[in-house]
Amino acid sequence: MTLPFIEQFNVTGKRVLVRVDFNVPIHDGIISDDSRIAAHLPTIEWLTNNGAKVILMGHLGRPEGEKNPDYTLKPIANRLARLLGSPVEFCNDCIGTEAEKTVAALNDGDVLLLENLRFYKEEQANDKGFTKKLASLADIYVSDAFGTAHRNHASIVGVPEHINQVALGHLMYNELEVLKKVLEKPEKPLLFITGGAKISSKIDILHHLLPKVDMMMVGGAMANTFLAAQGHSMGKSLYESDYMQEAKRILTDSAAMGCRILLPNDVVVAPTLEPDCETKTVAVDAIPANMMALDIGSKTIEIWAKMIKQAGTILWNGPMGVTEVEPFDKGTQGITEAIALSNAYSVAGGGDTLAALAKANMLNKVSYISTGGGALMEFLEGKTLPGIAALQKRKAA
Ligand code: 3PG
Repeated sequence: MTLPFIEQFNVTGKRVLVRVDFNVPIHDGIISDDSRIAAHLPTIEWLTNNGAKVILMGHLGRPEGEKNPDYTLKPIANRLARLLGSPVEFCNDCIGTEAEKTVAALNDGDVLLLENLRFYKEEQANDKGFTKKLASLADIYVSDAFGTAHRNHASIVGVPEHINQVALGHLMYNELEVLKKVLEKPEKPLLFITGGAKISSKIDILHHLLPKVDMMMVGGAMANTFLAAQGHSMGKSLYESDYMQEAKRILTDSAAMGCRILLPNDVVVAPTLEPDCETKTVAVDAIPANMMALDIGSKTIEIWAKMIKQAGTILWNGPMGVTEVEPFDKGTQGITEAIALSNAYSVAGGGDTLAALAKANMLNKVSYISTGGGALMEFLEGKTLPGIAALQKRKAA
């Protein structure tokens, strides 16, 4: 179902309430990464250029329904103003008299940011009264928070039920278009690169993607479970023994579905996870009993880089090794370099993957960076995100 896009609406002079995801890393009021704020600029700029009264609502952290100054959105309003190059008003509340008065005083083209929605427990409870108060602030609702679309919260699923006109913003529209292109009409072959610690947290993604992708590369500790299932001795490596049967089933299913699964040929091992400990690279059938696999090896990087070069589309979620500790970040770095050199259309997402890309200063080497963490995972599991379902329901009504 095609959902309405904000550019289809006349927004001049209208109060437009935009659900954003400004959930950025912030310590003592200092924002260390503002990419989630910047990702909403196309929506906000389009609205201001078209004379809307822009009202932004979002959350920060998990203040659990308490008005806690550690979680105020005030520093975000300041950063947004800097990014926009124009003033952003801030309101100390997201509902009630103060919010109503501030909204009423807006001029066309103004931008207002409301205080943290999660200062009210009613937000996460999707409370009807709270929902209606938020909805009363606007004429048009814009859904632009892909990163939060997996939550059943008032501002995500409740508010669109109570506003006549609802639409996708630019960020949400682009995320959905990109993911649709990758999963439904990819340039072939489609390669899924996955990693991270646990197969258990990605099992639904693997099952959902097996019939869709041509090839999967599995790195990180996730690969250890597959290697153990194949009968390799994993030494002290982290793996999930209760998921070995599941890993075997995925390997069998993949063969039947024509999806090739690539596991590491060699791994970097060490006795402990210390930055300056002794490491060596060994074949996966020669992992010493007193060592653990902490990254993919150089031979694997070389082989996988050649396969990456042949891919038409690449979807990447999950690092290849323990990227937080050097030198176990080399595998992820090698894969990023291979992606950067390929002509494939590439999409990366997920907190650990993006942190690894940022650490290697390589975020711009990927064609599209998803803003979704948990939301992206649920999307890749094949679930309809509640935030999308809410808009579909409105459209069907
Ligand atoms: C995120 O950071 O993934 C989103 O903003 C959602 O935050 P939450 O996990 O606290 O709901």
